[in-house]
Amino acid sequence: MNLKPTLTAAFIILPLAWPITSFAADSDAGRTAYEKSCAGCHGKDGKGNPGMAKVIGEKGLNVVGKETMQKSDEQLLKIISEGSGKMPASKLSKDDQKHALNYLRSLAK
Ligand code: HEC
Repeated sequence: MNLKPTLTAAFIILPLAWPITSFAADSDAGRTAYEKSCAGCHGKDGKGNPGMAKVIGEKGLNVVGKETMQKSDEQLLKIISEGSGKMPASKLSKDDQKHALNYLRSLAK
């Protein structure tokens, strides 16, 4: 059997597949973190959980709108890590806060 084409293919495919798989892992981490810690208030789609809106009011629960998405990562991460108004400071690790924010940005598209 001639291994050369197989090896060549592996050397081409592996570096190409690497960023794809690491991106998938990143967005999985984001979804997990977001659905665990954020969706209870902001809803799975980021538009606000209606049940929570009845409890704490609708204000601020939609976080996929233009106004939110125009803010920088720094601004939003500060709100996520320190809390704001009725939003409590997140207990997620810094990395997971970033993953959750990236996931939120992907929902907004
Ligand atoms: C207890 C409910 C609650 C939870 C849990 C919660 N939020 Fe919030 N969030 C809010 C409220 C209410 C606001 C509006 C804050 C304000 O008016 O200052 C807000 C604001 C925000 C904003 C700022 C929007 C803007 O335009 O300034 C972002 C971003 C955000 N939340 C993301 C998250 C993420 C990510 C998580 C999970 C780590 C999370 N939130 C968890 C209730 C919550």
